[in-house]
Parts: sequence; structure tokens; C-alpha cells
Amino acid sequence: MSSEADNNDELHVDLVTSHNGIAEETSPSINAPEIKNASSRPYQLFDNIVGYNDVKKLFSLSLSSERPVHILLVGPPASAKTLFMLECMKLERSYFTLGSQSTKSGMIDYLFEKRPRYMIVDEIEHMPMRDQTALLSLMETGIVAETKFQRTRNTQLKTWVFATSNSTEQMLTPLLSRFMVLHFKQYKYENFHEIAVHMLGHQGISKEIASPVADAVWSKMKSKDIRDCIKIAHLAKSKDDVNWIVETLKKYR
Ligand SMILES: Nc1ncnc2c1ncn2[C@@H]1O[C@H](COP(=O)(O)OP(=O)(O)OP(=O)(O)O)[C@@H](O)[C@H]1O
Ligand SMILES: [Mg+2]
Repeated sequence: MSSEADNNDELHVDLVTSHNGIAEETSPSINAPEIKNASSRPYQLFDNIVGYNDVKKLFSLSLSSERPVHILLVGPPASAKTLFMLECMKLERSYFTLGSQSTKSGMIDYLFEKRPRYMIVDEIEHMPMRDQTALLSLMETGIVAETKFQRTRNTQLKTWVFATSNSTEQMLTPLLSRFMVLHFKQYKYENFHEIAVHMLGHQGISKEIASPVADAVWSKMKSKDIRDCIKIAHLAKSKDDVNWIVETLKKYR
């Protein structure tokens, strides 16, 4: 058994500058993890996610805790779950896998070889039982063990697991209990509008187009999916275009 588990503790970036100001409110002195592309300008983790300040703060606390505290985000489509995972990928020594691809991508081999500090699993509900079982042990004790071709190998890691899921129904109960589970709710109109305008603005679309798109998607299409705003906004050049596209989509729905 390797005793390198604690050698992973290389935390020495100032959280105040690298964590969106979240930790500043409560504990300016705690350390933060290293961020991959830290440049001269301090990198702001979760900066492109609108709202969820409390969730950002929980992540921040987890990232700076002595022991791994694993977080699972559960929620409806387009509620920013994957966005949180993408941000976590910016952390040094992170490993990203899709639940449905975890076996193919050789998750267990990767754990042995690269010893990641952060394991990020998007759509964990699609993860095969074999991999879910491996996570049980990793999350509880840090131990990863595998028997293959009558040979056994094992090691011990210190790894935080961050994951997402649309629902918890297909997940092993003991796996669920190892996570701090946060249930995201469907957006209300005000959040939906603000997020759509903010996100489309980042994609170069003016508020004059983004705002009517958000209104039309919500009230005419009765959709709460931000992705619908993206599709329409990228086709429309004017408010009239927005109305025409929405009416056409309704016709062919
Ligand atoms: N709070 C938010 N801030 C910024 N962008 C957001 C927010 N919520 C949703 N979006 C945008 O909505 C789109 C979908 O987000 P994301 O992929 O994270 O959703 P998801 O919760 O993982 O959905 P699914 O369950 O379908 O995988 C992305 O383009 C994302 O930028
Ligand atoms: Mg997703």
C-alpha cells in the first residue's frame, strides 16, 4: 500500500484572490488549491456561473478542507451542473470523466497512474456498477484496489470527488451517502432571464436580442431550458426574427 496519500497536500494559493471572493467573507486565511492556468491575473474559479453564491462558497470550503468533502449536484437539465464540473477541471491534478464512459476511459488505471487530487464525474448515474463500487472505497478510505488476471494491486489516495446527476434513482445508496448532496431547483423567471442575458452577452449577443429571446422562450415556448435561448439567439438578427423563429418552432413542435 502506498503511503503517498498525504503527499498530495500542496495547497498554497491565496484563496482570497483565486476563489471569486467567496472565502473572503468568512475566512480570509484558509488556503486554496492550485489552479492549472494561473496567470499573473488571479484566476477566478466559478466566475462565469451566474448566481449560486452559496454553492460556490460550499465548493470553496470543500476545496480548502483538510479532508476530502465530496459534492454531488443533482438537478434538472440546464441548471449549470456541468458548468460547475468544467470549472473544477481548472484545478491542478483534476481528472474528468463522463459516467457512461468511465470504464472505457480507464478510470481505475488513471487513479493508479496519475493519482488525481480531484475526480470529476459528470452524469454519475450512468456509471457502471464496477466503477461506482471503486468510488465507494476511494471516497471513504482513499483506497483503490483492483484484482485483474489473478493479480491484485492497491494504493491509497487523497481525492475529492465532485459529481453531477439528473436524479439519484440509479445510484447506489452507500455512494449517495458519501456525498454532500445539493439539489438544484428549476430556475424561476427572474433567474432564467438574468442568466440568459448574461450568458448570451458572453457569447457576443446584445441585450436587445437576448432579452426578448429569454422572454419568448419562457412565456411563448413555455420552456425553462436556457439551451433554447442559445439556439434562437444565434439565429436572430432582430426582435422580429426572434418572434418569427419562436412561432416557427412552435408550429413544428
Ligand atoms: N447559472 C448559470 N450561469 C451561467 N450559465 C448557465 C447557468 N445555468 C445554465 N447556464 C447555461 O446553460 C447551459 C447548460 O448548462 P449545463 O450544461 O451546466 O447544464 P446541466 O445542469 O449540466 O444540464 P444537463 O442535466 O442537461 O446536463 C450552458 O450553456 C450554461 O452556460
Ligand atoms: Mg450536464
